[in-house]
Amino acid sequence: MVECPLGGTSRLVTGLVFKTSRAAARVVAGGFDSHVPPLFDADCKDLRTAESWWQCMKRWLKAELHTHTREDPIDGRRIVLHSPKELIDAAAAQGFEVLSITNHNQLLFEEGISKYAHEKGILLLPGVEATLEGSHTLLYNFLDYDPSWITPAQVMAKKGPDQMVIAAHPFFPIRSALGRRFLAWRELFDAVEYNHFYTKRINFNLRAQNVARQWRLPLIGNSDVHFLEQLGCTDSLVYAEKETASVVDGIKRGSTRIVTSPLGASFTARVLFAVLRGNLRSSLRKFGALFPDSTWSGGRGATGPETGR
Ligand SMILES: [Fe+2]
Repeated sequence: MVECPLGGTSRLVTGLVFKTSRAAARVVAGGFDSHVPPLFDADCKDLRTAESWWQCMKRWLKAELHTHTREDPIDGRRIVLHSPKELIDAAAAQGFEVLSITNHNQLLFEEGISKYAHEKGILLLPGVEATLEGSHTLLYNFLDYDPSWITPAQVMAKKGPDQMVIAAHPFFPIRSALGRRFLAWRELFDAVEYNHFYTKRINFNLRAQNVARQWRLPLIGNSDVHFLEQLGCTDSLVYAEKETASVVDGIKRGSTRIVTSPLGASFTARVLFAVLRGNLRSSLRKFGALFPDSTWSGGRGATGPETGR
C-alpha cells in the first residue's frame, strides 16, 4: 500500500478491471495474464548464491516506468528539479524495485546512475520518452536510441524481443498525446499507460483502457513523475525476475497489475500550478534572452515549445 499525497489510499487489485462505489476506491486494471506464474523460472539454472537466487526468483516487482529528471531537454529545470539520485532515493524509500528514467528525447542511462540504483535495490530500466511525429511514446531498452528517431518506422527497425514500446497517456487532451496515431500504429505498442493524472470525475485513461482490453495489451500504471511527490500515485507490479529482459518479457506477457488511485482536488491543483509555473519560468527566460540586461535573464535552462507530460 502506498499513499499519494492528498489523494486516496491506493489499492492493489489483482482482478482485470473493476470499479467500486466507494469514494476512496479506484478504477484499477491489470494485465491479461491472470494465471499464477510459477515461483521459480525453470530456465534459471544458477541458484548457488544468495544474490543469484534472489535475481532468479520471479516475484512481483514494484515498478515506475515513466519519470523525468532535471536533465530532461524539455521539462528539465523549468518543471523538473530533482536529480537522478534524488529520484532513485525517493523510489527506494517507497520500495520500488524497477525504475526507468524516461526523459524527453534523451536516453539517460549511465553506468554510475545504474550502479547507484543497484546499490539502492533498484533495477534501472533504460528508457526514453521519444517524440514520434510530435507524439510522446515510451521506449525501453533501446540502448542505441538517437534523438533523430522521429517516426515509428525508425523505432520498429530497431525493435527486438528485448525492446518494449508503451503508449504514453494516449488520449489525454494535450498536443503531445498519440490520439489517432495510437490506433494507426497498433503494431508498435506492447503496452498502454494508465497515467496517474486523473480524478474521480475526470479520467482520460478510460478510452485507452478500453482499447487495451480490445487489443489484449497490458496496462502499465505510471505517475509520469515530474515532481517527487507524484511518485507512488500510480504504479505497477510486474511478475518477473529482477532483470531487464525478464521485466520486459513479463510486461509483454501481461504479468502486470496496477496500483492506483485518483488524485485529490488539492494535489491536482498543485500539479497544474507547478506546470503553469514551469511554463511561466520558461517564458521569462525566453524574455530574458531577448533582453539580456533585464532582470528576467536568469540562469540557463532547457526550454521547450510545450509541456511534456
Ligand atoms: Fe513524461
